[in-house]
Amino acid sequence: MRVLVTGGAGYIGSVVAGRLVAAGHDVTVLDDLSTGFADAVPPGAAFVKGTLRDCAAEVLADDIEAVLHFAAKSLVGESVANPARYWSNNLGGTISLLEAMREIGVRTIVFSSTAAVYGEPGRTPILETDPTRPTSPYGATKIAVDTTLTEFCRLHGFGAVSLRYFNVAGAFQGADGRWLGERHHPETHLIPNVLAAATEGQPVQIFGDDYPTPDGTCVRDYIHVTDLADAHLRALAAARPGEHRIYNLGNGAGFSVREVIEVCREVTGIDIAAEVGPRRAGDPAVLVASSAKIQSELDWRASRDLRAMAADAWAFAQARASR
Ligand code: UFG
Repeated sequence: MRVLVTGGAGYIGSVVAGRLVAAGHDVTVLDDLSTGFADAVPPGAAFVKGTLRDCAAEVLADDIEAVLHFAAKSLVGESVANPARYWSNNLGGTISLLEAMREIGVRTIVFSSTAAVYGEPGRTPILETDPTRPTSPYGATKIAVDTTLTEFCRLHGFGAVSLRYFNVAGAFQGADGRWLGERHHPETHLIPNVLAAATEGQPVQIFGDDYPTPDGTCVRDYIHVTDLADAHLRALAAARPGEHRIYNLGNGAGFSVREVIEVCREVTGIDIAAEVGPRRAGDPAVLVASSAKIQSELDWRASRDLRAMAADAWAFAQARASR
């Protein structure tokens, strides 16, 4: 199939683009490189540098049949400081894309959504039918896109699948031996920060140890980026005109910040130092997904555990350090 991957120079988009190429799809990446890297676009994919507003229509006109939409701003803290940027990019950019798709007649889309749409959950594990009460503009823009997609499916015959990711981690080694992984600036995610602490010999900060959890640190549901990529391929095949499907994507098991640090110590063989600091604003104590719906409807299963995520993220970090 001829597919457009928006945001395909970013962490998750580039891994999915790589898996799509490997599965025999004809892939074009559209990315403005505001946070992505041209060298993350996998070999075998065509690359267009540009924004959704300026370039989506032209790229779609090149016989594209389906879109995987990753291009977005994704920092919770930045979204609180600058909500307009998030509404403009994440909702405005997506509406430009959807309108261009409608005009050209491309009606299949897989959308990169997030656990952040649920905010502080009322229960665990979280089901897709649970209330969406985002606590940040980032989460609010993502639920707004989900609502827009529901409307485009109902009114314009689109077939859409939204995947609500929990905590994505790990890296992917392509057929050419190159590793694709997280390269955020600034890096806010736990596993890359723990691994950076291992390399730099500085302690990693634990953001609060007074949460109502077994060891007092926050519990999250970590999912390997290649398992996530597999879910995208299944979602692409499952999209049906007039239907908007929504699936959570996690492992269904929670790990605390301290447990993650311990796994990283085991994988690296380095006694990574950690120090407890204040809580980070807006962090829920526990976020764990029920992925039962995607398991039963798309026959998807997570196959890589936290150790594999830490090991692959470490291999990626070391490959970058040796360049
Ligand atoms: N943490 C630390 N130290 C760090 C980094 C993180 O203690 O250096 C803690 C956080 O406080 C949190 C946990 O590790 O308790 C995980 O934090 P991440 O930043 O790695 O991930 P989040 O759970 O905050 O973010 C994820 C996604 C976001 C999404 C959010 C929804 O990455 O895109 O879930 O809450 F918006």
